[in-house]
Amino acid sequence: MPQQLGSGNAPAARADAKRASESATEMVQVVLPNDANPLGFILGGTVMHLIDIAGAIACHRHTRTLLVTAAVDGLQFLHPIKVGDLIILKARVTAAWSTSLEVEVEVFSEETLTGLRRMTSVAYLTFVAIDRDGRRVPIPGLILETAEEKRKAADADVRRAERLKARTRLQQRGGC
Ligand SMILES: CC(C)(COP(=O)(O)OP(=O)(O)OC[C@H]1O[C@@H](n2cnc3c(N)ncnc32)[C@H](O)[C@@H]1OP(=O)(O)O)[C@@H](O)C(=O)NCCC(=O)NCCS
Repeated sequence: MPQQLGSGNAPAARADAKRASESATEMVQVVLPNDANPLGFILGGTVMHLIDIAGAIACHRHTRTLLVTAAVDGLQFLHPIKVGDLIILKARVTAAWSTSLEVEVEVFSEETLTGLRRMTSVAYLTFVAIDRDGRRVPIPGLILETAEEKRKAADADVRRAERLKARTRLQQRGGC
């Protein structure tokens, strides 16, 4: 039986709930010299930009609204991706709450000549749906069908609680 993430304020009853597969996004790009550092590896900032874009596309497909990035969780780069290789980004919505949603973006390198593929990063981003006046708007719920989707949504709830605590700490820090 499909299930939606239904914590307190989640829009579980909305009729427009969607499956993660409906918004799943894959981006493939060749790493060009302009994207690289002097060692011939893609710049971390370029990877972060692509992660933001891939994540945003998946979330736009889920919400069909304007979005802002609210948070990006700690990011690691396990392997360099060199000029001439492909960078592949797979983005999938893991949880949808009232006006915010989380997307997982997996990053892979693929050697053009051998096809060798390696996972290089996994990122979790939170986007918030807004209208043209900057007001937050409710979003469709996420239909959870598989055990893996249910596990990922439960993990996303835990990450969300941590992010909101981190945001409170940042707000309390203040100062200019
Ligand atoms: C993100 C932003 C819209 C949140 O606005 P806010 O008035 O503080 O919002 P609220 O505290 O009422 O939270 C609104 C939703 O966002 C979520 N949220 C806000 N900040 C968050 C954070 N740091 N991490 C995770 N979720 C967050 C809340 O959980 C809530 O989700 P829900 O409605 O699904 O329960 C606002 O802080 C903002 O505009 N930040 C700048 C965004 C930006 O410029 N990004 C980069 C360029 S796009």
